[in-house]
Amino acid sequence: MSGKFIVFEGVEGAGKTTQIHQTAVWLQSWCNDRTVVITREPGGTKLGQQIRQLLLEDLDSCIGNRTELLLYGADRAQHVESVIRPHLDRGDLVLCDRFTDSTVAYQGYGRGFDRSEIDRVNQLATGGLHSDLTIWLDLDVEIGLQRVLLRGKPDRMEQAKLEFHQRVRRGYQELANTYPNRIVRIDANQSEQIIQAEIQAILKQSV
Ligand code: TMP
Repeated sequence: MSGKFIVFEGVEGAGKTTQIHQTAVWLQSWCNDRTVVITREPGGTKLGQQIRQLLLEDLDSCIGNRTELLLYGADRAQHVESVIRPHLDRGDLVLCDRFTDSTVAYQGYGRGFDRSEIDRVNQLATGGLHSDLTIWLDLDVEIGLQRVLLRGKPDRMEQAKLEFHQRVRRGYQELANTYPNRIVRIDANQSEQIIQAEIQAILKQSV
């Protein structure tokens, strides 16, 4: 049996973490003969946790845009090789908080890298692995950033200007238009329960 690779995407504060955990609990009971795994980027491996710390927590660092892109790529390469591929080969259901579409949205649309450069980094990092399904929790960036501020001190990416986050959201919109079979949009401005019900309805058809 081959595994399934399901990715959750969205702008800051879209509610991915809550939804991915609720989805894992439900999916494990719905498919009780399969193993459900939750992981994330950046930070899905021991090395990745250190990369995550560098990328997000070190607020004084002046990380250049190229360095940032390559650090996300390095985190992904280690993650695919040591976590995602092995689980998929075992037939597991892998739920991942962010993957390659984040790099297109944040480093491509947000920072302004050409799509061809982003694709080269993603290809090198993943060896061509794509999600089977990407659930895009779409939220107005101002609402998301307000939620982030309520949680505490914003990290390095969250501190970027509003226009950066607006470009990121536009990136997700364009990705969803380009890959309608792989990326499903959910309105993340609804209640947690309704969002979760919509996710379950989608997964019942694809897992
Ligand atoms: P999060 O885990 O709380 O969503 O934070 C991850 C941050 O890293 C978020 O600001 C999005 C950003 N990011 C990128 O800019 N590019 C990437 O490729 C990935 C995976 C995340």
